[in-house]
Amino acid sequence: MSLNADWMQRDLAVLWHPCTQMKDHERLPLIPIRRGEGVWLEDFDGKRYLDAVGSWWVNVFGHANPRINARIREQLESLEHVMLAGFSHQPAIELSERLVAITPAGLSRVFYADNGSSGIEVALKMSFHYWRNCGRTGKKRFVTLTNSYHGETVAAMSVGDVALFTDTYKALLLDTIKVPSPDCYLRPEGMSWEAHSRAMFAHMERTLAEHRDEIAAVIVEPLIQGAGGMRMYHPVYLELLREACDRYEVHLIHDEIAVGFGRTGTLFACEQAGIVPDFLVLSKALTGGYLPMAAVLTTDTVYRAFYDDYASLRAFLHSHTYTGNPLACAAALATLDIFEQDNVIERNKALAARMARATEHLKDHPHVAEVRQTGMALAIEMVAEKAGKVAYPWQERRGLKVYEHALSRGALLRPLGSVVYFLPPYVITPEQIDFLAEVASEGIDLATRDAVGVALPTGGPQTFHDPG
Ligand SMILES: Cc1ncc(COP(=O)(O)O)c(C=O)c1O
Repeated sequence: MSLNADWMQRDLAVLWHPCTQMKDHERLPLIPIRRGEGVWLEDFDGKRYLDAVGSWWVNVFGHANPRINARIREQLESLEHVMLAGFSHQPAIELSERLVAITPAGLSRVFYADNGSSGIEVALKMSFHYWRNCGRTGKKRFVTLTNSYHGETVAAMSVGDVALFTDTYKALLLDTIKVPSPDCYLRPEGMSWEAHSRAMFAHMERTLAEHRDEIAAVIVEPLIQGAGGMRMYHPVYLELLREACDRYEVHLIHDEIAVGFGRTGTLFACEQAGIVPDFLVLSKALTGGYLPMAAVLTTDTVYRAFYDDYASLRAFLHSHTYTGNPLACAAALATLDIFEQDNVIERNKALAARMARATEHLKDHPHVAEVRQTGMALAIEMVAEKAGKVAYPWQERRGLKVYEHALSRGALLRPLGSVVYFLPPYVITPEQIDFLAEVASEGIDLATRDAVGVALPTGGPQTFHDPG
């Protein structure tokens, strides 16, 4: 038995994997990874895979990055963890100072959580609690865009709208208000991204006008709706949203968990709209993809509304055991050093242009409706019929065919339904981008070649997606 097969057998005897129908592994091989280096992951039989999706969008400077490794090792020698209530430590203080310095002016307080979904819970609870502390107890609903994804905990699911993940749990979810997304894939033919995003804002304006007294916050994934299929929109929407949130006295929460740290072409997506959200939620690439951590940044106005004598019961009594873990902070500090020292955002421009060039030909593919890109995120939408953008039935799992082909060629591409995408680490080379584009083209050819002989059950979600 190969080493891979041996590890797979042991795994399948005891593990339950995330976002997986475990029965798939009766047919699909599970890939046990022995080591990682740069953009490469290597399995136990020595086969290598180019990590085109940054291991669920977290890895920006490569696996086993020597600079991040060294910083974590150094931290390990002095302090692995201490609770952050009543105690503090150098890495948390330094990281908070640096996050305040690099995010838009006005975000002056940092609260930590230990994964993206928990960071979303913090922002939602803080917003609701702020209004309560201000005597506005009616403001307790959240507005979200259709096709959003904000995580898997119950409140985070409530502000999400990817049916595959949320429909089953509907009975458990908060009563949120859903507004049609400015998703530019859905724009009328010939309309620009800007004009479409601007036009779609009318729905948001109406909702805010009608429900202002009951809305605590609007939450958005700025510029890219990731798990919803890497759907993209124009920054003008965020500009309009900021202005309207101010006008209607509603908080704006930016979930930059997936898009923060350079993915959209600027360090943070909100910079492209020139706005400051009331809450900025960061995670994933925050630690370079090493350790789970989230940071929620907010304003002095929000912070002050909680600051009072204990007996007033205005404090934010929310905690996660590993809040501000020193090893995660050390990984984040090393990650910020690399951003600063290596001029990453500027260098990424050439890589983004290379991704565009390498996939340009796919625009003419008979089963590709769109090749879209925002900075270092590029997505290719496969369709049954190009005219009218007719989607493949989700049950056909066309993306899975691309995934399997890519594995055979030594690349990790994990499509979202019929959307093949690249979210590579920023240490990828131009030649490696060309290789990915070649593998994706072959995979798309194979996946779209024939009719797929599956019996289509009726009902169920309209899309097959995967949370990154
Ligand atoms: C935009 C967005 N928000 C929240 C989350 C949830 O983060 P986590 O998986 O760390 O809970 C994700 C994860 O993919 C995400 O893409």
